[in-house]
Amino acid sequence: MEKRVSKVLSDQLELPIIAAPMFLVSSPQMVIESCKSGIIGSFPLLNARTSEILEEWMKEICHELSVAKLNEANHKVGPWAVNLIVHSSNKRYREDLELVKKYQPPIVITSLGDPSLVTDVVHGYGGLVFSDVIDLKYARKAVQKGVDGLILVCSGAGGHSGVINQNAFISSVREFWDGIIVLAGSISNGNDILAAEVLGADLVYMGTRFIAATESLAGADYKEMLVDSTFEDIIYTDVFSGVKANYLIPSIKKAGIDPDQLPDRKSIDFSEMNKSKVKAWKNIWSAGHGVTTIKNVQPIAEIIAELKQSYSESLDSLLKTKGHSTF
Ligand SMILES: Cc1cc2nc3c(=O)[nH]c(=O)nc-3n(C[C@H](O)[C@H](O)[C@H](O)COP(=O)(O)O)c2cc1C
Repeated sequence: MEKRVSKVLSDQLELPIIAAPMFLVSSPQMVIESCKSGIIGSFPLLNARTSEILEEWMKEICHELSVAKLNEANHKVGPWAVNLIVHSSNKRYREDLELVKKYQPPIVITSLGDPSLVTDVVHGYGGLVFSDVIDLKYARKAVQKGVDGLILVCSGAGGHSGVINQNAFISSVREFWDGIIVLAGSISNGNDILAAEVLGADLVYMGTRFIAATESLAGADYKEMLVDSTFEDIIYTDVFSGVKANYLIPSIKKAGIDPDQLPDRKSIDFSEMNKSKVKAWKNIWSAGHGVTTIKNVQPIAEIIAELKQSYSESLDSLLKTKGHSTF
């Protein structure tokens, strides 16, 4: 991890994890608890319904993390991050960027567009900009725009997942990029984190693993569905948001739709769909293939403690079995 992640960043982390931003799921409490447990906590800025609410959230996060740094001098407190949609569809883009400038989250994650304006602002206060990408074309573009990190969203990820295999994506990107790589897609336990590091990732991005956290904004029925589901309950479709994403089949059934008879997107009358309250993220719920590992609803601190334990067991076991092996 020391190689590419700046020393300042790795010194603040217990594990190389970003709790990924999730629309209608990530809360300020998730961010605070993640950072207090020594990983990077993040949230999409649009989870705060207005810029006024967003400012309150940012103030609270800054306050809680500075108190934690004072009171818990023996523990690492991870940096916080925000996710900014850099697209004309985001009407709050400029307004929210002003708040980024004011509260200076150490990491800003951009999605869906040209990150240039964001890099100007964030580099201006010494922060880092990471862009999430699902293919090589966007990875190259983001590098040209001066980002510090690439988040490779591979197959099986929650939300707007990519389709590229992790091994293929990371090795292809490493041919032209020596900066920070964050690997995403069904990373759920210590083995997965270690495997990502072996592949050459500096950090991992974990979304689905945290949806059922006690502190998340997801409703009790969504959390219960995650506990009951496996990756066989996931469908990859563009029907609900216009962009391909992974969704929980039981939530589609719950909304009265037959997942085996999903219409062709072009033939859908969206006004009708909204009328019947079928909305991606709100009641058509997303999760990645890693959903199989979710066994119960737990506080963030407990999930991260389990990840630490499983990471250290995986490392020990690897060293024991491979430490003396010649192949
Ligand atoms: C419910 C849900 C909502 C998401 N919302 C966002 C979002 O608002 N912005 C974003 O960049 N990514 C979003 N994502 C994608 C995650 O940030 C991340 O890429 C993904 O969860 C990683 O894969 P994993 O779920 O297999 O760990 C979302 C994912 C989920 C499951």
